[in-house]
Amino acid sequence: MSIATEAARRRTFAIISHPDAGKTTLTENLLLAGGAIRAAGAVRARGEQRRTRSDWMKIERERGISVSASVMTFDHAGLMFNLLDTPGHEHFSEDTYRTLTAANAAVMVLDAAKGIEPQTLKLFEVCRLRDIPIVTFVNKMDREALDPFAILDEIADKLALDPTPLYWPAGSGGRFKGMLDLTTRQFQPYQRGGEHGPSVAFESNAMDDKLRPEERAELSDGAELAGRPFDHQGFLAGAVTPVLFGSALRHFGVDELLATLGRFAPPPGPMTAEREGKPTQVEPGAEEVSGFVFKVQANMDPNHRDRIAFLRLTSGKFARGMKLKAYSAGGKGAPPQRQMSVNAPILFFASDRELAEEAYAGDVMGIPNHGVLRVGDSLSESGAVRFAGLPNFAPEILRRVRVKDPLKAKHLKKALEGLAEEGVTQLFRPEIGSDFIVGAVGQLQFEVMADRLSNEYVLDVVFEAAPYAEARWLGGEAAEIEDFAAKHRSAMARDIDDNIVFLAKSSWEIGYVGERFPKIRFERTKERG
Ligand code: G4P
Repeated sequence: MSIATEAARRRTFAIISHPDAGKTTLTENLLLAGGAIRAAGAVRARGEQRRTRSDWMKIERERGISVSASVMTFDHAGLMFNLLDTPGHEHFSEDTYRTLTAANAAVMVLDAAKGIEPQTLKLFEVCRLRDIPIVTFVNKMDREALDPFAILDEIADKLALDPTPLYWPAGSGGRFKGMLDLTTRQFQPYQRGGEHGPSVAFESNAMDDKLRPEERAELSDGAELAGRPFDHQGFLAGAVTPVLFGSALRHFGVDELLATLGRFAPPPGPMTAEREGKPTQVEPGAEEVSGFVFKVQANMDPNHRDRIAFLRLTSGKFARGMKLKAYSAGGKGAPPQRQMSVNAPILFFASDRELAEEAYAGDVMGIPNHGVLRVGDSLSESGAVRFAGLPNFAPEILRRVRVKDPLKAKHLKKALEGLAEEGVTQLFRPEIGSDFIVGAVGQLQFEVMADRLSNEYVLDVVFEAAPYAEARWLGGEAAEIEDFAAKHRSAMARDIDDNIVFLAKSSWEIGYVGERFPKIRFERTKERG
């Protein structure tokens, strides 16, 4: 197969959801649907999944690194699916956001009883930044659910997305009977605690056994009201979301979800980059191997200094042992290029194959290294390709950090800069005073940071409440920004790349100053590069 054909059969996607909506359960069941785990039925699948997990742990042990399921690859129906993990819950961090920049599509899982919840909304906003197409999976239909029309309204109102159901459910909870494929008019019956059985034509007599006449009439009416042609182009542009209903736990609707991804989700596309300072498009089918690092994971084993960098390939045919050159994302004093042999890349198959010999655009590989690779770095054979840096996201928690031993302040500065370059936390130096303000999008990042400062840099630090609640990068004309900065000197800071940042006491304050300085953009994201 040609490089372009290989790239075209990749589907690289992530799942976004609010905690407890069923992301983990859906992941397991997608692996099951994709044949990546071989058991049939949820209970045994959990057992198999445990085995899969222990295989992962074996890789982790052998290599002395933690790879903890950042991506899972499986080959199904002629396609290669790369499912990226977007850590949620207490592990929610900037990584979660950045992972989405490596995905070509996202599955948004909603709890049918709850609709759109706060974290779904946050993650959705990141998808919207890149217009990543989103497939909606309304989960837990086996429980009492909101009216499906109410869920569609929520999607339209809260996300400004145009929802197009591909299926329509018959009831929910104890009265959940199945769903109608709005395209083929086949009814897929739901069987509580067993095989769901073959689908039947909605207009056939066989339906008499599946639904009572009033249920059938209700489904027919609902489907007629909800049904409309699916606008594939609108979906690819991030404006339309196909909606599926099901139960991840009962493995209902999951095969259909995977088929929908295979059929409609886009393969990796061309990427904008610079080559020797000039703008260029990197085509997935191009000969030269290239990619970008979207995540760096520190080794959980304190005896190793290893890191694993996750590289999302963007072009070419990667073969093990290949030499790639890194173009550094920057940061102070970082040399622009470094050459490295990629002898032991890790490809993350959910099935038996642990190490693959080749990889294409859309695939993700883990590259063990000693802290050479950083988030946002570009890798290519020539070393001349440079992708725009990955975005930074405005932190949601800001803390002042202080080292207990005042003689170590200089040391602290270096350590904080190191961690900021790696993307663990963000660092802000107020223009006035000698404080170090660190920012993160999740609480756990501070714990990781404290741990690493103590273990790797032998620094004992305390985090204190900062007088700031929000950080914004400033956009607009230089003179306007200068004027603003002069009037708000005590709230101005510099980030790791020396960009100017406004530290606000509250989001209200941002609205307030925003009205007084309408020409200035207060930005929640910053593209690095
Ligand atoms: P998350 O990763 O998004 O946080 O969610 P997770 O899959 O862990 O699911 C959260 C809870 O919801 C779990 O129950 C899970 O079994 C349940 N769940 C997921 N999908 C469905 C579904 O389609 N139907 C129903 N009825 N429940 C579902 P738990 O009791 O918290 O955990 P567990 O002990 O069952 O694992």
